Order: sequence, then structure tokens, then C-alpha cells
Amino acid sequence: MAFHDTPRRYGAVSLLFHWTMALLIILQFMALGGYINDGEHWIGNTIVPWHTDIGLLLLILVSLRILWMLGQRERRPELHGRHAMQLMAKGGHFLLYVCMVLMPVTGILLMVGGGHGLGFFGIQLVAESEREIPWAIALGEWHAQISWLFVALVLGHLGAALYHHFVMHDDTLSRMTARRSGHL
Ligand code: HEM
Ligand code: HEM
Repeated sequence: MAFHDTPRRYGAVSLLFHWTMALLIILQFMALGGYINDGEHWIGNTIVPWHTDIGLLLLILVSLRILWMLGQRERRPELHGRHAMQLMAKGGHFLLYVCMVLMPVTGILLMVGGGHGLGFFGIQLVAESEREIPWAIALGEWHAQISWLFVALVLGHLGAALYHHFVMHDDTLSRMTARRSGHL
């Protein structure tokens, strides 16, 4: 499989970014499990303690992904469907990127603004502090709101991918997976 994207399919690097980040983002959504049983369930004890670390890793990944995506713009596949559908898909993908950036940024504002400090897999990036930063907390409070928009977008995105595959029978899903072989 090609390293770069081609007009017929996404290349190895785009695939790796897409599916690694999709998995990590779904793990991040487990933080919503706090609404079940007041957070008293196994997810709250296993995945959510890594929320800050995974979130910061996602910020690094999305930065690299945006640079990569901009470099591939001319060669990557055209979106399928009529003009209106293409516009919706473009808008949806753009909003997914906006959420991928805003979630970690607002998360950092919440942690630092609240004086909780910031750690990344055991490395202390910002020390805890007695002083709160009100503007950072106010902006950080959008974290939970944006997460609902993000969940809705991902569900719509998943629905669209399945619709293309099972109803329209086009190659939208297969060009984003490794299954399709070929020299392009
Ligand atoms: C793409 C990355 C991220 C996603 C998808 C994500 C998702 C979520 C979700 C779904 C919640 C639950 C919201 C609710 O209770 O209604 C949450 C809460 C939280 N997240 Fe994140 N998060 C991300 C990154 C981060 C980062 C990088 C940090 C910190 C540096 C962070 C800190 C927090 C905190 C402190 C809460 C609990 C406070 C609150 O609910 O407002 N998150 N996150
Ligand atoms: C969970 C978080 C997810 C995010 C944030 C996300 C984001 C994106 C973005 C931004 C694109 C545009 C291409 C790019 O720049 O990489 C894309 C393409 C795509 N995604 Fe996702 N995705 C997620 C999950 C999924 C899932 C669960 C599926 C389906 C099972 C899926 C199927 C696809 C397909 C088929 C494309 C190619 C669309 C086309 O070329 O017309 N994605 N995704």
C-alpha cells in the first residue's frame, strides 16, 4: 500500500492517523460514563484515569495529522455523491477536526485553570497551584458541551460511512481501510 494518499484511496499514514485516533477518541468518550451509576463502574476505574494523558497524546497526533492532511490535499480521493452531499461531508470532516483540536485545548484550560497542574504519562508539565485562573476555567467549561457535539458528529460520520458501504455500495469505506489491494 502506498505511503501517501492517492486519488483512489487513503495511504498508510492517513489510515494510521484515522484509526489510531478514532480508537483513542472513543476511549476518551468513556468519560461520559460518569453519568452512569454516579461513575461507579469498571470504565471509571480503568480508562478514565488516563484521560489527560490520552487527551494530550491526541493533541500531538491531531497537530501532525493536520500538517499531513494539508500536504495530501491535492492527491487524496474526491468525496462521493452529489454536490450537496460532498459539501456536507466536507463540513462534517472540518467540524471533526475542530472538535479534535478544541477538546484537548479546553481540557488543558480546565486542568491548569483549576490549579490541578498537568501531567503527561508521568512527566509533570505544569505544577499544581493554589491559584485558580477564572478565564481559563470559563473557557474550559466548554469541554463538556463540545464533547456532546463531537459524539453527535462521530455518530453521524459512522452512519454516513455505513450508508455509503451498504446502501450506495461505493468504495468510501474500503478506501479508508487496508483491505483494498491494488497498485494505486
Ligand atoms: C480529544 C480529546 C478529548 C476528548 C474527546 C475528551 C472527552 C471528554 C468527555 C466526553 C468528557 C465528559 C464530559 C461530561 O462529563 O459531560 C470529558 C471530561 C473531562 N475532560 Fe476530556 N476529553 C479530551 C481531552 C482532554 C484533555 C487533554 C484534558 C486535560 C488536559 C481533559 C480533561 C477533562 C476533564 C478535567 C474532564 C472533567 C470535567 C468536565 O466534565 O467538564 N480532556 N472529556
Ligand atoms: C471516532 C472518531 C472519528 C473521527 C474523529 C473521524 C474523522 C475523520 C475525518 C476528519 C475524515 C476525513 C479524512 C481525513 O482527514 O482523515 C474521515 C474519513 C473517513 N472516516 Fe472517519 N473518523 C472517526 C471514526 C470513524 C469510524 C468509526 C468510521 C467507520 C466505521 C469512519 C469512517 C470513515 C471513512 C469511510 C472515511 C473516508 C470518507 C471519504 O473519503 O469519503 N470514521 N474520518
